[in-house]
Amino acid sequence: HHSSVTLDPAFRVAAVDPRVYGSFVEHMGRCVYTGIYEPGHGSADAHGFRADVADLVRELGTPVLRYPGGNFVSGYTWEDGVGPRENRPTRLDLAWRSLETNQVGVDEFATWARGVGSEPIMAVNLGTRGVDAARSLVEYANHPGGTRWSDLRRSNGFADPHGIKLWCLGNEMDGPWQIGHKTADEYARLANETAKAMRRVDPSIELVVCGSSNIRMPTFGTWEETVLRETYDAVDYVSLHSYYEQRGDDRGSFLASAVDLDRFIEAVVATCDHVRATGRHRKRINLSVDEWNVWYQARFPGEENLDWAEAPRLIEDEYSVVDAVVVGSLLISLLKHADRVKIGCLAQLVNVIAPIRSEPGGPAWRQTSFHPFALTSRHGRGTVLRVEPIGPSYETAEHGEVPILDATAVHDEETGAVTLFAVNRDQYEPLTLDVDLRSLPGLATAGHVALFDADPEATNTAANPDRVTPTRQPDTKVADGRLSVRLPPLSWNMLRLT
Ligand code: AHR
Repeated sequence: HHSSVTLDPAFRVAAVDPRVYGSFVEHMGRCVYTGIYEPGHGSADAHGFRADVADLVRELGTPVLRYPGGNFVSGYTWEDGVGPRENRPTRLDLAWRSLETNQVGVDEFATWARGVGSEPIMAVNLGTRGVDAARSLVEYANHPGGTRWSDLRRSNGFADPHGIKLWCLGNEMDGPWQIGHKTADEYARLANETAKAMRRVDPSIELVVCGSSNIRMPTFGTWEETVLRETYDAVDYVSLHSYYEQRGDDRGSFLASAVDLDRFIEAVVATCDHVRATGRHRKRINLSVDEWNVWYQARFPGEENLDWAEAPRLIEDEYSVVDAVVVGSLLISLLKHADRVKIGCLAQLVNVIAPIRSEPGGPAWRQTSFHPFALTSRHGRGTVLRVEPIGPSYETAEHGEVPILDATAVHDEETGAVTLFAVNRDQYEPLTLDVDLRSLPGLATAGHVALFDADPEATNTAANPDRVTPTRQPDTKVADGRLSVRLPPLSWNMLRLT
């Protein structure tokens, strides 16, 4: 096969918002306990956080981390997680039928997140709680002092406010599985009043209102419309969540998951702009894809079948080469929409459907999906260029006809480098990619890194943590403003043009 793209610095989509490379830490399974936090671990720091995991988080490169849920947040009492640890109650976590010991709370999380180079994003409970708990939490976290909640923070040892800038108004409130699930009208009113009260405490914060839990929700579209009509002036972003898995042996559809994410994003943008037009609003609402990943949901037994346990092993999916290629391709989708997608959170960070795995008392390692994420986060900084690939397509059961090549490019205006991210969705044939660079005369060489394997099912495990890693391919020289590279079958690729 042959595909071609033309790169031109004049065809700008938008600057990449670094927050698109965020991730998500939920009090779920072993993401927090024996994930980021394990006081008895050999690498634990003075606060009980694992240094081996922290090092991998820094390497992954997540400028923001959403916390503490997820479905968990809809039953969360944040006050349980502050103050002397020995006084913190153990609670039933109704979302995941688990025991929550509250040994980590907002103070520890915000401090740890900054230490690994990430800004915390905090979600408030709009399931069992509402305006009062949310405005108290903003006061606790962000008010300097001299008041009930800010002085409590100070007396707990955190003299400086945490200064949390971005807040989520609940989680997946459209889902019947959510504790305190609401209709669109109920949620819209609560979110609006909560947003206003939170902003009165700290006018500098930004707010994300809940959109749909996935594109197949029966309320998709009308939910966003109802919620945005009510909250338009009070919020900045609307969320969308999207998880993908291979169904049966239909790998062709799975490899084209980003086509579904493209359509989801474009439908939410259209809905935001419809409400903007009919409401005669000036500002635009942007998008926060604050949960996305590959997740084999079909393998999850359902929360009703779990036992009340502390830090149980929940949804510890082991990712293959195919899964990593899909993750790389989903990142391409987020970048292509950089004009409207400002925040993205790979769900989750450690152990729970995560790029990083850890064993209690044992090692931490990188899953296959770690690699495309870390490389995109490191090199996908600058301005996204519009690339319009020309090339062959194939038919899928789930998404119709899709292109074999998925690609985007990011121009770093400071260094002049352009990074091209490209996925060859063909499982059997290599793809020759012709790149027209005549509008970028300074570029001479393409350094090529690719993730692929003779065994697309290969995974990284504790015993063999580096079984799957990206490999350096031969450099290609630009000749007469053009270059040509071979993308292996079923591969994720990064071309660094300098
Ligand atoms: O990330 C796992 C779960 O997926 C989250 O708790 C929830 O928000 C979503 O349904």
